[in-house]
Amino acid sequence: MSATKPKRYTITAALPYANGPLHLGHIAGAYLPADIFVRYLRLTHQDVVFIGGSDEHGVAITLRAKKEGISPQEIIDKYHYLNKETFEKFGISFDMYHRTSEKIHHETSQEFFTTLYNKGEFVEQESEQFYDEEYDQFLADRYIVGTCPICNFENAYGDQCENCGSSLNPTDLINPKSTLSGQSPVLRETKHWYLPLDKYQPWLEEWLLEGKKGLWKSNVYGQCSAWLKAGLQPRAMTRDLDWGVDVPLPNTEGKKLYVWLDAPIGYVSSTKQWAKEHNKNWELYWKQQPREEDNSTLIHFIGKDNIVFHCIIFPSILHANGEYILPENVPANEFLNLEGKKISTSRNWAVWLHEFLEDFPGKQDILRYVLCSILPETKDSEFTWKDFQAKNNNELVAIYGNFINRTLVLTHKYFGGMVPERGNLQTIDEEVLNRIKVLANEISASIENFRFREANALMMDLARTGNKYLADTEPWKVIKEDEDRVKTILNVALQIATSLSILSEPFLPFTAAKLREMLNIEAIAWQNANNEILIASGHQLNAASLLFEKIEDEVVENQVKKLHEARNETMHESKVIAAKNEITFPDFEKIDIRVATILEAEKVKKSKKLLKLKVDTGIDQRTVLSGIAQYYQPEEIIGNQVCILVNLAARVMMGVESQGMILMAEDHDGKLSFIKPIDIVQNGSQIS
Ligand code: 2FM
Ligand code: ZN
Repeated sequence: MSATKPKRYTITAALPYANGPLHLGHIAGAYLPADIFVRYLRLTHQDVVFIGGSDEHGVAITLRAKKEGISPQEIIDKYHYLNKETFEKFGISFDMYHRTSEKIHHETSQEFFTTLYNKGEFVEQESEQFYDEEYDQFLADRYIVGTCPICNFENAYGDQCENCGSSLNPTDLINPKSTLSGQSPVLRETKHWYLPLDKYQPWLEEWLLEGKKGLWKSNVYGQCSAWLKAGLQPRAMTRDLDWGVDVPLPNTEGKKLYVWLDAPIGYVSSTKQWAKEHNKNWELYWKQQPREEDNSTLIHFIGKDNIVFHCIIFPSILHANGEYILPENVPANEFLNLEGKKISTSRNWAVWLHEFLEDFPGKQDILRYVLCSILPETKDSEFTWKDFQAKNNNELVAIYGNFINRTLVLTHKYFGGMVPERGNLQTIDEEVLNRIKVLANEISASIENFRFREANALMMDLARTGNKYLADTEPWKVIKEDEDRVKTILNVALQIATSLSILSEPFLPFTAAKLREMLNIEAIAWQNANNEILIASGHQLNAASLLFEKIEDEVVENQVKKLHEARNETMHESKVIAAKNEITFPDFEKIDIRVATILEAEKVKKSKKLLKLKVDTGIDQRTVLSGIAQYYQPEEIIGNQVCILVNLAARVMMGVESQGMILMAEDHDGKLSFIKPIDIVQNGSQIS
């Protein structure tokens, strides 16, 4: 990166829902890469603003409030402050960590809506939406779950499948269920405002498919091109909800902006707040400038479940508005798994960042280093505590820490902590100094291309180079016969150490600060990291202390134990779901359950879940689809008696009409098993 006029950058990291604490998956997905990039930009003296904040609207919040039995406001207050503090402690260096419940955000997102409305961009439409009669409310987004029609994931939300990332409409879901009552919903008419994504498709094809080819990461570009190929549909930008930003139109009581309309606008309102507090002009970071070359470079760091919103929907909104810049890149990461399983908040299979910070005080950089070394940049990756321990002990302690410690301790021992004068350089010295230059350039290139794993490994290579240099030159032996040669060796080693204090700062900011303190230097600009003389002879160093300590087996074993215990506790607590609301006997009488025998069973094409059964109900023979394919082979269930709800309205799934529902018991892991009479009874026998 050149040292000429600074470039302006607007860097955002996904606004996490303020509905729970942060776990390692969040950090590896968006925040650590964003922070490394931003710290690098700052070190290269670019004009950068790093924007974050809490996403405090949408059903994610109200569902959590319901679960915890407190108000949505209490939920967002609790988690906003917890997450803000956790980010700070972990060294995620946001310039602004704002919240979407603030007035300035409500106003900004309403302004966006009004601008698009006045430009006639929205399509106003009445349509049938799912409604929960028991709770008397429409079922937007996470209020409805069902099976994803694309990947068969069973817990897809009404607006999105978090498993495959597809953006969905509630009516796309197979077997939709209200998450409020657990019941199948009914359909009701309601009016909403739609963003005509189909209209923007040609523009998106040009801007994204043509314009970003070869520039965006293939996992991101691939997802986007698949959506565009499938053809975009208009998408509702409003919801029937009571929590969120009010729709700024007359007679729209009970309607709010769709959370995925208001959340990305949160980046803009967060920037406005930062500008206000720092006497800056927010428009320079968001609006198109008279000269294109003066536009800020906008980069969104996100996890893969946010790709559609940041690459298709938000750019369409910015484009429709007309005054804003568009993202230059969206380097989304894939998912991080944990100890062989998917991270799951509901099953409590997660390492919570605030707990890590309590259990490992002052050791943020170990986690930053380990996570950076396994970032799911191109495919899903995995965190294990054993790997955490190994990377700490074998790399941070044995290479980085060891090199710095030996260099400083020897300088104190032989030269009273003063940087010794350099004599004539030997080939080995020249080679090592040259290697610093090469590595500094390579690290820059890797970071600029969003290859943070590679950059982190190169940074450790620099420490390894220093460590090897000391091992090869053996100053502790040479001191006996040639003190001048040792002066040169330690002078060179101190140049490497100083270079490391610059080049490791994006990855290990706390360590880099400690190292600067030991070296008794101020922060140095990145561009200078490959200067031959970074620390002058005669400069007095401060005392040396250990940068890293070994982690014992017991410590990581306890963490694995903690993980399993927390999960078991959660599963135990959630074993039995609370009873549903009371019903009357006439309600019960409406239900007609009979004993039936399975006559035939076969797999349903393209469905991992469904079996197609032919059953004899005593009344008739009929076809029923049942979501048991993962638990039973077709041949093992033929001939079994089961219980069937015979008067459930027929439904078409995967092109097959299902005429009834086989009753199943579902355990806390979601496993299903048949309910069957102990004795053989006549088909058609009523269950009462
Ligand atoms: O997935 C999430 O956690 C969302 N709250 C991310 C929002 S990113 C942005 F649009 F605000
Ligand atoms: Zn899916």
